[in-house]
Amino acid sequence: MTTSLAAIAPHGGQLINRLAPEAERQEFLAIADKLPRVQLDERATSDLVMIAIGGFSPLKGFMEQDDYELVVEEMKLANGLPWSVPVTLSVTEEVAAPLEVGSWVRLDNSAGKFIGVLELTQKYHYNKAHEAKNVYRTDDQAHPGVKVVYDQGPINLAGPIWLLEREPHPLFPKYQIDPAASRQLFAERGWKTIVGFQTRNPIHRAHEYIQKCALEVVDGLFLHPLVGATKSDDIPADVRMRCYEIMLDNYFPKDRVILGINPSAMRYAGPREAIFHALIRKNYGCTHFIVGRDHAGVGDYYGTYDAQEIFDEFAPEALGIVPMKFEHAFYCKKTLQMATTKTSPSGPEDRIHLSGTKVRALLRDGQLPPPEFSRPEVAQELIRAMQGES
Ligand code: ADX
Repeated sequence: MTTSLAAIAPHGGQLINRLAPEAERQEFLAIADKLPRVQLDERATSDLVMIAIGGFSPLKGFMEQDDYELVVEEMKLANGLPWSVPVTLSVTEEVAAPLEVGSWVRLDNSAGKFIGVLELTQKYHYNKAHEAKNVYRTDDQAHPGVKVVYDQGPINLAGPIWLLEREPHPLFPKYQIDPAASRQLFAERGWKTIVGFQTRNPIHRAHEYIQKCALEVVDGLFLHPLVGATKSDDIPADVRMRCYEIMLDNYFPKDRVILGINPSAMRYAGPREAIFHALIRKNYGCTHFIVGRDHAGVGDYYGTYDAQEIFDEFAPEALGIVPMKFEHAFYCKKTLQMATTKTSPSGPEDRIHLSGTKVRALLRDGQLPPPEFSRPEVAQELIRAMQGES
């Protein structure tokens, strides 16, 4: 089939591709032992990949100081485009000291494998507390995203990158659908409107409800679970993906849903991350993006609808993707269906909603989450996985 353009432009107008062409790749490999090295952690590795595949378009590399400071201060890049979360390569003084601006740096993954290069254009200090307060709305180091900022080095290395090779995901190769491919798939299916769904948790009935409400008004649903680094008590990605496969086999029309993985790391930055998540899905070709209760939140750091309200701070055409906002959904015992306060006459006593923490506690005790919360096949899969874990 010929390539046809998806309806929505990537952020900044052009889908970035920083996968090194074969000739360059060979040249970099030939000088591998001569290049100074920087080792990337899991997050930086996934950021490198996201830049390379265009998921972070228009970024071509790790942010220079002007972009970084404007993102932290004003949620925009130096070229004026909205952007809400820094994408930086932060290293220690010792790592930064020998690196010369203007030279190539070899980027290794945590296993020591040479995976990419950075054309070093800047090294700069940054203010961690300021970044934390602006991006995360707190400098409390008990916040998992803030902790990462405080634990990382004090110097940002910046410049364009190349990824040497796009390897299949070791666990989910068939779901590794990069932005160029998702755009192609949407076009082949004839979808003009596509809603993206971000998630880091096992699918439950409130998720299913808001996905299906959205699917009632758009052509296709792009289920896009995040499989990059998450905090240690989140449910592992392989378990979450199995739950999605179960749901697709039993509860969704196959021709209207595509499941693909989002390689990014979670930041837990709540409202700012909701904007970031939306822009990523725009790059994958989505026209709409679901933002429910406490999107990308953690603990009590954010108000239930802060991640929805932040969209009002941007001109819709500047973002270029439409948020679909959903209230807190629950099972309503009065009307015997999923609902929100917008659609149900129930009082609080008629509503069943469980938190992720409560569900994990149930599972660890060997108890199935109730059918009002989880589809039974998903509950079985979760209990199997959680019991295997302990
Ligand atoms: S997140 O960190 O990726 O946002 P999660 O996987 O729980 O966490 O949420 C995925 C999406 O579903 C987010 O947009 C979130 O706001 C939404 N969501 C989760 N639970 C509910 C609920 N009970 N009601 C409405 N929206 C919800």
